[in-house]
Amino acid sequence: MKIRTIEDIPEIKGKKILLRVDFNVPLEENGEVRDDTRIKESLPTIKKLMEEGGRTIIMSHLGRPKGKVDESLRLTKVAEHLEKLLKTPVKKSPEILGEETEKIIAEMEDGDIVMLENIRFTPEEEECEPEFTKKLAELGEIFINDAFGAAHRKHASTAGLAEHLPAHAGLLMEKEIKALSPLLSDEIEKPLTVIFGGAKIDTKIGIIKNFLGKADYFLVGGALANTFLAAAGYNVGESLYEKDKIETARNIMLDCEKRKEHFILPHDVICAEEISEEAQTLDVPVEDVMGDMKILDIGKWTTEKYCDILEKSKTVIWNGPLGLSEHTPFQKGTKTVAEFLAKHDCVSIIGGGDTADAIKSLGIDENGFTHISTGGGACIEFLSGDKLPGIEALKK
Ligand code: ADP
Ligand code: 3PG
Ligand code: MG
Repeated sequence: MKIRTIEDIPEIKGKKILLRVDFNVPLEENGEVRDDTRIKESLPTIKKLMEEGGRTIIMSHLGRPKGKVDESLRLTKVAEHLEKLLKTPVKKSPEILGEETEKIIAEMEDGDIVMLENIRFTPEEEECEPEFTKKLAELGEIFINDAFGAAHRKHASTAGLAEHLPAHAGLLMEKEIKALSPLLSDEIEKPLTVIFGGAKIDTKIGIIKNFLGKADYFLVGGALANTFLAAAGYNVGESLYEKDKIETARNIMLDCEKRKEHFILPHDVICAEEISEEAQTLDVPVEDVMGDMKILDIGKWTTEKYCDILEKSKTVIWNGPLGLSEHTPFQKGTKTVAEFLAKHDCVSIIGGGDTADAIKSLGIDENGFTHISTGGGACIEFLSGDKLPGIEALKK
């Protein structure tokens, strides 16, 4: 995939650069940034623009304010956090477009950083409204998109601006595309194992379909596995599963059987009657699940089997925690598999917001993985083989 990068910009010095980042980060109750991974991942781009004397105007969304001003979703704390990381002032505008923004931009000097207010405080952003997009474009001379996490959205600041300004990928966008693209090609080192967990089939179906015929093993966990177990005829008790997706699940399994691909479901599972930190758990074979039992993690035997398969894999893609890993009693499957994968010598790609969060909060060495994507939905759509508007706009 050939995209225009920062290297393709003839001159950065003195130029007003509209930089779209994905600073949609988790916040504490008091509004402070709880996890600054996405901010840190865009620092190389911001620093480069600063060092080269660009005048960087940062745009980001935060949450889903639905086109209205939401005081709890202002970017003020995010700008302060960025300021600390950069050790340089970041001037934050209290609005997106308007006199205040124009004044702040007019006062910018080479190397300065300005941040606009949450770009989703107006409905025109998500509508990619032409007049708004044009006015936004008038604030700058070059558009750089570093927001891989929002690349699946066709919004004014993620795609629309490219119709008005020279559009280039930021360093994070470039890094994500470089890490993920080989997975869509025939260059994958085999055996390829795809691990699926998490909650909803719909959000995974694209990747599953895209890797049918390519992957050697599918390892399934999480609530997703419950739907497949139910489709295979098991009683899943009161586990979370999707009744209306049984047919979809059955078709996927039949498809795998025909192709002689290994679609592996848990053989034993961790069950509890309640979801809490104090929950009493039981590791049982799947055929023994009944009554009000809830499947909340993969069992010990299954975990070992999954690690055995990972051991012989050369490429591993993982999307979705293998259990309800937010709670200690149900995190062992995810933790053990993550620890094993981090140590195993192979290409390992982690995608999905909750999967990346789980890896961080479980204290796994992040350097053990080839790539942990900053994208949730964007990464999933990319690996599904879909065209992402934010990336299409950067193609040469
Ligand atoms: P990602 O964001 O990485 O794509 P998902 O959003 O699909 O992942 O799924 C993550 C969610 O799935 C987590 O909130 C996790 O607690 C939940 N989950 C995983 N396994 C189970 C389970 N057995 N029962 C209920 N919820 C589960
Ligand atoms: C994300 O967190 O996945 C991105 O920031 C996109 O957010 P959205 O799903 O609200 O568009
Ligand atoms: Mg999720």
